[in-house]
Amino acid sequence: EKGGFPDFMLKEIYEEPRTIRDTLAGRMVNGHLQFDELSLNYDELAAIDRVYIIACGTSYHAGLIAKNLIEAWSRIPCEVEVASEFRYRNPIITPSTLVVAVSQSGETADTLAAIRDARIKGAKVFGITNVVGSPVARESDGVIYIKANKEIAVAATKSFLGQVAALTLLAMLLGQLRGGLTTAQIRMLFREMADTAQHIEQILADTSAIEEAALACKDAQNALFIGRGIGSTICYEGALKLKEISYLHAEAYAAGEMKHGPIALLDEGFPVIVVATKSPTYDKVISNIQECKARGALVVAIATEGDEEIKKHADHVIYIPKVRDCFSAITASVPLQLFARDIAIARGCDVDQPRNLAKSVTVE
Ligand code: F6R
Repeated sequence: EKGGFPDFMLKEIYEEPRTIRDTLAGRMVNGHLQFDELSLNYDELAAIDRVYIIACGTSYHAGLIAKNLIEAWSRIPCEVEVASEFRYRNPIITPSTLVVAVSQSGETADTLAAIRDARIKGAKVFGITNVVGSPVARESDGVIYIKANKEIAVAATKSFLGQVAALTLLAMLLGQLRGGLTTAQIRMLFREMADTAQHIEQILADTSAIEEAALACKDAQNALFIGRGIGSTICYEGALKLKEISYLHAEAYAAGEMKHGPIALLDEGFPVIVVATKSPTYDKVISNIQECKARGALVVAIATEGDEEIKKHADHVIYIPKVRDCFSAITASVPLQLFARDIAIARGCDVDQPRNLAKSVTVE
């Protein structure tokens, strides 16, 4: 049932192009976004003045990406919070608050508790989940299903990409309702997001640079992931993937924070994985790479195809196809997942069943 793959994690990474295609299927009809199952009241949705994205773990990281898009396109303030914190404080929730609960399994205890709490306080709750009829689906006012099919490996991979795709659709919808995006822009964004399925296929067709970089880092004790903007949000997920399956201590930082503490960690050979794709802050990221190199760090850069310049700065370069910055969240996550898996395999870990972890956390 692993379909010829050595483990479920790898099989599921190779299912990512399909996850993108399936999650987007039927969402654009005659040039308009389609969310029939939400039975949307557009007036109600247009009156939303605050969005909370609530989730745990990897799903929380998908939320971090979505915050950037929701605020950019709709100008509605959006906060992302881990469910176990949200449920025990007293967040500002009113009937014009939209709570988006993101959960692959649809049964995470803290996320469910947050949904219940938000509904009691009058918020509108949308669930984003992979499991049809799950508690998150049943207890939300509306649900958007990601179409990742069953995910067996404990570490979330394809479901993360499905979540990012579904949240991006929701951000587009809010942008359209608030006049931040025109119909033409929505169509263009949708097409470009759909194209990421091919970009992922291209990444999966040659993974040699990822394997080489992983080999260079496999014996390290620690690793740091840095980036800016969308790049920083991907780093949090890259670091989580690495620590959970390889037991290598990994941390993620917004690259601008390096001088405020973490740069003290660096010494000869310390692995720093940098998301350095072409983005509005590309030059700043290059300066961060230079600062790391000056302290002897081993730099692995995820970069945009055609960027020859970066070879002068980084020890290992993993190229990915050029996409609009917001969609680099989808494409750049793929090499980070493979990088984590390659290191875990090299260290002799069971990538599908990491110690101490369960696929769904139904108790607090
Ligand atoms: C990490 C991972 C976990 C889950 C988290 C939330 O690879 O899988 O961090 O993302 O336990 O699970 P769901 O999305 O099912 O609520």
